[in-house]
Amino acid sequence: MKMRRHRVFLLCTVGLCVISFLHYYKALHYVSLLRELSAPYPNIKSFIMVTGFFWQEKGAGSGAPLSPASPEELQDDETPYFTRTRAGALCFRQGGRPAAATGGYRKPLQVQVTRGGRRLVKCVCRPGWHGPYCGVPTMVYHSNLPTKERLTPRETPRRVINAINVNHEFDLLHVRFHELAQAVDLFLVCESNFTAYGEKRPLSFLRLLLNGTYDYVRHKILYVFLDHFPEGGRQDGWIADDYLRTFLTRNGMSRVEGGRPDDVFVINDADEIPAREGLLFLKLFDGWTEPFAIHMRKSLYGFFWKQLGSLEVVSGCTTGMLRAVYDGDGIKLRRREYYTMPAFRKYENDTGHILVQWSLGSPFHFAGWHCSWCFSPEGILFKLVSAQNGDFPRWGDYEDKRDLGYIRQLIRTGGWFDGSLQEYPPVDPKEHMYAPKYMLDHYQRYRYLLENPYAGRR
Ligand SMILES: *[C@@H]1O[C@H](CO)[C@@H](O)[C@H](O)[C@H]1NC(C)=O
Ligand SMILES: *[C@@H]1O[C@H](CO)[C@@H](O)[C@H](O)[C@H]1NC(C)=O
Ligand SMILES: *[C@@H]1O[C@H](CO)[C@@H](O)[C@H](O)[C@H]1NC(C)=O
Repeated sequence: MKMRRHRVFLLCTVGLCVISFLHYYKALHYVSLLRELSAPYPNIKSFIMVTGFFWQEKGAGSGAPLSPASPEELQDDETPYFTRTRAGALCFRQGGRPAAATGGYRKPLQVQVTRGGRRLVKCVCRPGWHGPYCGVPTMVYHSNLPTKERLTPRETPRRVINAINVNHEFDLLHVRFHELAQAVDLFLVCESNFTAYGEKRPLSFLRLLLNGTYDYVRHKILYVFLDHFPEGGRQDGWIADDYLRTFLTRNGMSRVEGGRPDDVFVINDADEIPAREGLLFLKLFDGWTEPFAIHMRKSLYGFFWKQLGSLEVVSGCTTGMLRAVYDGDGIKLRRREYYTMPAFRKYENDTGHILVQWSLGSPFHFAGWHCSWCFSPEGILFKLVSAQNGDFPRWGDYEDKRDLGYIRQLIRTGGWFDGSLQEYPPVDPKEHMYAPKYMLDHYQRYRYLLENPYAGRR
């Protein structure tokens, strides 16, 4: 009797293992688990990851439907972003004024304008929103977009894909997901088990993804695993740096299903966070040109050391252009050379539009944030030692630069590793676009990036 129960238990365990394995394999088919298990060091860790994942899926299944659509399948966003007023004006809900009568419900008021005997109905915009539909945010309104007069709301929103490579920017990753989850349909997040310097690194993001840290946005994350280091990457770090973007785009996009050529592709570094309003605009409107850049507020070590001007990076285009002109390679997009690319004229001709590059935002109206070296001192140290070999001098090679006291001193003064000190304009944490909203809403948690932690100390 006892013997039989034992056998049943054993069988169940084996069955569980098989099921968990299948689950794991289906969800994360990039990991060649078979290879890993048959490696000379068959590690217990993979098993824990496997069962952990299974358990989690079961957990998520209670009550809610078990995993909705797999993240790589793009769906249409059915959110009613626009509303039609009784007199027939089409207004962007977020951009419209709350009508006093409806008790705070965000229903845009409309006004009626008489022009030449014809009655026109218009939406009344909240501050920060413009255009006849109140769907054009200030960062587009004050941008150099040449077709500003010809913007029309789409029937069906575009799908927006945001691609990034991740190293250890986990705090900023939460900020990105919260800032953009509403506008972005799919996040392609690439992680490698090699540092940019070519050394081994743990799959820290994967671990967090599997332990539930990002469950609030899990259904929008497509994990891209880079398991090799490019040839020549150790001698020339730029090769490694570029390759990360190439692989992220090629591998990630090849796994996206149900895409349309007018979907939007946006590639960022992990420390570049576009503002939600800008991406929502791209999602909901027709009539802009491509590729587009983003003017980002620039700062160092935190948002408190604001740098002059803005960082303007070419960051996106439609997936149609990505494929036709950039050969599906995100690094080519960032290089702003589209007009010399052989397929560009043909693409322009095929679309029937004259394409010019424009930038969301301006040096005065930021459309995102670039927070460079925004870590705790320990995080900065980690970045130093895992930096690629090409950004010379490579400060991680100098022992005195790897001292935490020295790094704290840099944060305190806003100095740089070469001993230089730049001019920083004064800032006020209350100023517009100081930092992403999620950080300001979680001030204590992000205090170390919002206020200089060492100000006043010697
Ligand atoms: C990264 O993973 C691949 C595939 O599992 C493996 O062949 C490679 O040796 C790993 N690299 C490091 C540095 O661990
Ligand atoms: C996941 O792991 C991280 C790091 O080990 C830990 O800080 C975090 O609390 C864990 N999250 C959950 C939801 O278990
Ligand atoms: C431009 O488009 C037209 C059709 O719209 C086509 O006939 C022509 O061959 C195209 N030219 C080039 C250079 O692709």
